[in-house]
Amino acid sequence: MTDSLSVRDNRTNAEYELPISDGTIRAVDLLRITADDEPLVSYDPGFVNTAACRSAITYIDGDAGILEYRGYPIEQLAEHSTHLETAYLLLNGQLPTAEELADWEHLVNTHRLLPDNVKTLIHGFRYDAHPMAMMMSAVASFHTFYRDSRNITDPEARELNIVRLIGKMPTLAAFAYRHSVGRPYVYPDDSLGYCENFLAMLFQGAEPKYEADPRLVRALEVLFILHADHEQNCSTNAVRAVASAGNDPYTSCGAGIGALFGPLHGGANEAVLRMLREIKTVDRVPEFIAGVKDGKGRLMGFGHRVYKNYDPRAKIIKHATEQVFEAVGVDNPLLKIAIELEKIALQDDYFVKRRLYPNVDFYSGLIYEALTFPPEMFTVLFAVPRTVGWLSQWQEGVTDPEAKISRPKQIYTGIRTRDYAHLGER
Ligand code: CMC
Repeated sequence: MTDSLSVRDNRTNAEYELPISDGTIRAVDLLRITADDEPLVSYDPGFVNTAACRSAITYIDGDAGILEYRGYPIEQLAEHSTHLETAYLLLNGQLPTAEELADWEHLVNTHRLLPDNVKTLIHGFRYDAHPMAMMMSAVASFHTFYRDSRNITDPEARELNIVRLIGKMPTLAAFAYRHSVGRPYVYPDDSLGYCENFLAMLFQGAEPKYEADPRLVRALEVLFILHADHEQNCSTNAVRAVASAGNDPYTSCGAGIGALFGPLHGGANEAVLRMLREIKTVDRVPEFIAGVKDGKGRLMGFGHRVYKNYDPRAKIIKHATEQVFEAVGVDNPLLKIAIELEKIALQDDYFVKRRLYPNVDFYSGLIYEALTFPPEMFTVLFAVPRTVGWLSQWQEGVTDPEAKISRPKQIYTGIRTRDYAHLGER
């Protein structure tokens, strides 16, 4: 077997041999195929079948429903790991030893405070501003406080600013939340772990010490692990594209937050909850499904570009949802609607034919609601752990000798050369 593709261009009768490596052809090899001096270009809106980089971080087999971080199955990490341990794994490629983990946790904890001016920045937003806008602006502003972050070729500067951002994200998310509900900010508590401290910064009231239910801490830990990375998704692609121009991690992750905000991406968890509320009762589910099939909107939390099988993260989350509901004692009618939607959709020809299964966002919103978060916070809760993935991918991108500035081609469909007409002549 020869690892190549034989191509015959019927326009010119010319024949070409394109090498195949790693199951891919190089798009630049198509430039050799020309007709009328025009090289052949591949057209792929949304990068449906284009690999934009090599990556050793996350592996997905969408048909089989497999997700692995650095080779470890997501199910095992969700069961045994913590978010910070998973972060270490994603960034460094190996699980830490006990000593490495303790040092890493300590290091992250020392970077949890925000520059004071960032509080002023958050304060400048209206009370009802979406917290994703606060997150995006604040993260983008960080490089003005940490100028060394622009030295992206310096490994020490890269490392320092990666850990800084991982440390600061929960504090920033908590401050954005407390601003939106008009409550004073709560500072990080050194005696608490990453997720426990996050819950305290979010929910601490007048009590001297906020004590989170350990079941909820674990549920958040699991959610964070599941959301930590997902190879070249829309926001990671945005991060890599911005980084490819030589940008620091803050500017790049700011772009990632913007991409994640979209309802087709991380914003879907918020959209799922709004959809369930709109459906209101289980008996209206068939009518809603009929509307979706009729083209009146999408079933949010269903379908995935890569998974054409049950999203392995959705399976784990469904289980976590039941545990959280047990912990907080909520008999949430929205969960019943979600279960009915899933049941009907999984049997319906429309969804079966298109291989549309529940994705990670289908159940995560219900957990966030049970934890009393307003829907606007849901995507923020996705952004906090995904920062780890963005940073791992940012690091891989900026150190990749094959990386180039992201600059796709286009098929020009507009008018060609014409003369400028003065105002009175139009
Ligand atoms: N409800 C109804 N129909 C759907 C849905 C849905 N959720 N998703 C896809 N389809 C249909 C779509 O209309 C199309 O049908 P047809 O072939 O008749 O035109 C077919 O399925 C293929 O859809 P597509 O839009 O070409 O697929 P895509 O890979 O470009 O889009 C997606 C993937 C996730 C954007 C899409 O499935 C979707 O909009 N889902 C709802 C939003 C959502 O839950 N997003 C979260 C994704 S997972 C987490 C994350 O990325 O953050």
